[in-house]
Amino acid sequence: MAAISMKNIVKRYGDGFPAVNDVSIDVADGEFMILVGPSGCGKSTLLRMVVGLEDITSGDMIIGDRRVNDLAPRDRNLAMVFQNYALYPHLSVYENIAFPLRLAGEKDEEVDRKVRQASATLELDEHLDRKPGNLSGGQRQRVAMGRAIVRDADAFLFDEPLSNLDAKLRGQMRTEIARLQKRLGITTIYVTHDQTEAMTLGDRVAVLKRGVLQQLASPRELYENPGNLFVAGFIGSPPMNFLPAEVEGTTVKLPFGDVQIPQDKADKVQGKGLLIAGIRPEHFEDANVVGDKVSEGSVFSATVDVVEWLGNQAYAYVPFEAPPTVREHLAELEKDLDGESLRTQMVISLDGASRISDGDEAQIWVNASKMHLFDPATGENLTVDAEHAGEIPGMENPEKQAHAEHMADGDGDNGPDGAPQGDGTNGSHRAEGGDGS
Ligand SMILES: Nc1ncnc2c1ncn2[C@@H]1O[C@H](COP(=O)(O)OP(=O)(O)OP(=O)(O)O)[C@@H](O)[C@H]1O
Ligand SMILES: [Mg+2]
Repeated sequence: MAAISMKNIVKRYGDGFPAVNDVSIDVADGEFMILVGPSGCGKSTLLRMVVGLEDITSGDMIIGDRRVNDLAPRDRNLAMVFQNYALYPHLSVYENIAFPLRLAGEKDEEVDRKVRQASATLELDEHLDRKPGNLSGGQRQRVAMGRAIVRDADAFLFDEPLSNLDAKLRGQMRTEIARLQKRLGITTIYVTHDQTEAMTLGDRVAVLKRGVLQQLASPRELYENPGNLFVAGFIGSPPMNFLPAEVEGTTVKLPFGDVQIPQDKADKVQGKGLLIAGIRPEHFEDANVVGDKVSEGSVFSATVDVVEWLGNQAYAYVPFEAPPTVREHLAELEKDLDGESLRTQMVISLDGASRISDGDEAQIWVNASKMHLFDPATGENLTVDAEHAGEIPGMENPEKQAHAEHMADGDGDNGPDGAPQGDGTNGSHRAEGGDGS
């Protein structure tokens, strides 16, 4: 087993496109690291550079104590499980698992010992003589993992291994992978665009956007202390609500009324003008079922559009008005997130006991102490608790970060049509991107 250290990794494809841009991630020995982000953010590219399937343009890839940039994949001793795990259809499950050992010329009894051990771990014993074609998706997945296990690799690398499975099986396999990784204690990097997998599997999660690392933190840190609007919007389901906000003293003016925030939070945002407030659905409640906690938050009245009752809880949708600048920022954010949700309605989570129904003018309670306040221009979370937010690379230099993301804007259209519109800096960035290819 080994630690994996990526230092300032850059990947430019032939057309000059920076698919991965100055990413540094240290994966500890035995750690389960998730790479997550919307389609095209560079997750697979980064993983393929770890394994050696893709050249590294610049930066250092360190596995254990070796710099592996120039090592062939077979010399890196890593085991990779892909989305389309290629099994050999004419070989039995046993021989599929044994394949890398046969290739390495190991003795029959050694092969047998390792295959049986892996198959016991993966509960494949009764399927060893069958052919892959006769197995379920989840069983095939386990065979692919068995083949990775027998190799005694230094690390496991997964690229969306569950995306071909149906929802139920995906849930089962998720638990299984988590259990197996804990048991084997093997360093693991796992690529997904599914934030549920990211939250449930990882010791830590690296969130990527357009080839740039946004935040690297534990799932809890990401959820409670997102470093910017992008991470805040990506992690959590239903997603965090974003509302226009103005702060005066400890009072925050929101579309539906005024709420109070703690002094220390208020101090961080004085005089910043129009901001975007982020409040998670569960920090709202029907004021009638809050009980004693009511004094810990603020109560406002709002017209509820639709209520979805799920038994144990309900989601209520509350439309709101936002000024054009905020609407623009939110629309842009939605695009980055590959999102589909309508950002000008709030989603609030209510207790199952709530009697609020469609069209009601309801009394809603909100715990505003959990609110985050974002700078609309940079997306930065001004109220982040930096001690409990892991690493936020962009915090040191937001402009550099914005520039890097900009370079990956659009698919290779950083040519003449990217002409600046009265913004000189923007234009020169574009020109740089073009020259560098
Ligand atoms: N061979 C290539 N040549 C040029 N550009 C490429 C190549 N492979 C990938 N890219 C570009 O690099 C970017 C990152 O691709 P990558 O496959 O790493 O994304 P991803 O995060 O894994 O996305 P997905 O979730 O869709 O798998 C994309 O914009 C893609 O168009
Ligand atoms: Mg991919």
